[in-house]
Amino acid sequence: MSDTPFLTDIETIRRRAREHIENGAVTEGYRADRETVLKLLNEALATEIVCTLRYKFHYFMATGIHAKTAKAEFAEHAQEEQEHADRIAERITQLDGRPDFSPEGLLTRSHSQYAEGANLVDMIREDLVAERIAIDTYREIVQYIGDADPTTRRMMEDILATEEEHADDMSELLDNLGGCGEPETV
Ligand SMILES: [Fe+2]
Ligand SMILES: [Fe+2]
Repeated sequence: MSDTPFLTDIETIRRRAREHIENGAVTEGYRADRETVLKLLNEALATEIVCTLRYKFHYFMATGIHAKTAKAEFAEHAQEEQEHADRIAERITQLDGRPDFSPEGLLTRSHSQYAEGANLVDMIREDLVAERIAIDTYREIVQYIGDADPTTRRMMEDILATEEEHADDMSELLDNLGGCGEPETV
């Protein structure tokens, strides 16, 4: 066994906690590059807002006999993306950052695009593309954070898992619609 104590001495931790009380949840033990994490989280927030808006649009615009199942999925996903946005914004404030909800530059900050789609199949395809982009970038964020900020990493892993479910839902919808022979243009 090493002579070095496993934990920083508790008195030191308590003193530092009191000294930096104005930093809220950010302690001196925070090992990540906070500015970079905040930037990544604000980009993820923009992604979630854009995804919410796109799913909302698809929910209201989906028509046709095959639209019922798709509409239900769009509504559910819109709500889940909204919840992701809230969780990310909450974490940003815990890290003493400012969640960027400004519509200005939203699409530039977002990883995925706001694509309307000309018909039901198109809409689902656009959603699948957006989910796949989110999956790739969120996975990169998780890898970047590593052990430096376990709370943010866990949150992003959690959100990533939901995006994988979303992609799976969209892919299944596409397969089903293919089976129904849904025309490419409605
Ligand atoms: Fe999401
Ligand atoms: Fe999603």
